[in-house]
Amino acid sequence: MSQWAPRAELGLTASPAAQYTVARRAALSERLPGVRLVIPAGSLKTRSNDTDYRFRPHSAFAHLTGLGTDREPDAVLVLHPVEDGSGDPGPDGAGGHHAVLYVRPLAPRDNEEFYADARYGEFWVGARPSLADVEALTGIEARHIDELGDALAKDVGDGGVHLLVVTGADDAIESLVEELRVEAGEEEDALTDEKLVEATSELRLIKDEYEIEQMREAVARTIEGFEAVVRALPAAKEHRRGERVVETTFDGHARLEGNAVGYETIAASGEHATTLHWIRNDGEVRSGDVLLLDGGVEVDSLYTADITRSLPVDGEFTDVQRKIYQAVLDAADAAFAVAKPGARFRDVHAAAMEVIAARLEEWGFLPDGVTAADALGDDGQQHRRWMVHGTSHHLGLDVHDCAQARRELYLDGVLEPGMVFTIEPGLYFKADDLAVPEEFRGIGVRIEDDVLITEDGNENLSAALPRRPEDVEAWMASLR
Ligand code: GLY
Ligand code: MN
Ligand code: MN
Repeated sequence: MSQWAPRAELGLTASPAAQYTVARRAALSERLPGVRLVIPAGSLKTRSNDTDYRFRPHSAFAHLTGLGTDREPDAVLVLHPVEDGSGDPGPDGAGGHHAVLYVRPLAPRDNEEFYADARYGEFWVGARPSLADVEALTGIEARHIDELGDALAKDVGDGGVHLLVVTGADDAIESLVEELRVEAGEEEDALTDEKLVEATSELRLIKDEYEIEQMREAVARTIEGFEAVVRALPAAKEHRRGERVVETTFDGHARLEGNAVGYETIAASGEHATTLHWIRNDGEVRSGDVLLLDGGVEVDSLYTADITRSLPVDGEFTDVQRKIYQAVLDAADAAFAVAKPGARFRDVHAAAMEVIAARLEEWGFLPDGVTAADALGDDGQQHRRWMVHGTSHHLGLDVHDCAQARRELYLDGVLEPGMVFTIEPGLYFKADDLAVPEEFRGIGVRIEDDVLITEDGNENLSAALPRRPEDVEAWMASLR
């Protein structure tokens, strides 16, 4: 333990997210007054035996602390209820909670952990931030994780403080909260954790200025990843697992220019494109195929894009591929046309489905006697055989963001400026689908863009990536 030079501080400074997280915590505080709110980052997860997955904090934690990348395993954000008006600042003055981040700080050099702990020791995994670093980075008071137990237990019980924890992030913290509730003899039907989970999800439905900027960044890096894949197509065609060439090219770009991919890349060539979440990616990329690439770069702040393009491997669509592609593009355009403030989230899907059903009727694929109008009715839905997924989902820190928001704010919700979601219709004709002519079989097309609702309509954040078939072909030729 001797003969080491004096330790250099990490010397972290305020993250650009820090100024925005104040308002996010204030909004959460207002929704759940008087309750102690526990938001864990999560802990390391074993991949196999004694090796862990790379750490990524829970999105609710990232949103409320502004921490990104791999910060910080085992940390817990707690919003302690305080006398109203004496808490942390919010848009309307001081609020009713005070935020504290409990973290496991850098271990000193005279501590065995420093040298011998393969999971947390600095010799093994690098230096962690000190408490001062965490405070500088987040603007939130930081305390040693050893103080968490007492801090959570303080005044808990009937007539005292009620505890809510974000579930699904950290089993140990959930158990600790549960123990404290049992000890305090709390009633089962008290305010449930679901309310907190719902609140943290709904807070993210409208993105702030910083989040929108991060989404733009994620989209820009993702578009570069798509360009890199097009350049790699000749190599993909040569390899027995060409889809892996596509995957690793995209994922490599995501690691180089961002934090990681926001979800497992779907690199699906030919018939594999008809499997919606094809992530095995071990197939060939053959001449004549349409390659469906669904990828998103997650930037260091953990916001991710989610973009799909369906690309003719040879650079030009065949007639039937173009026909399918154009139908999907028309469906997407119809969805874009209704995506504006005041419309309902579900209207976007309905607009896309109208086009899909009409095209399938035109091509004679709907069952005998079934019109597009019949198919669009609640008892119909025959067109869904060829597009079983939804057209849109919210997007942000999670690729399927805000997933715990209540139905009335999500599916039945009204669009508002600042919402970001995908528009991603598709048509998928399985190789063994006897309901369609042979030439359609084994082709899957999805076009997925990331959309920001603005004051008077929408902005396609991923518009810089060509969508029209002729533009896709020209773009591919330009990268050749
Ligand atoms: N990449 C997953 C999705 O499009 O929802
Ligand atoms: Mn999507
Ligand atoms: Mn996608």
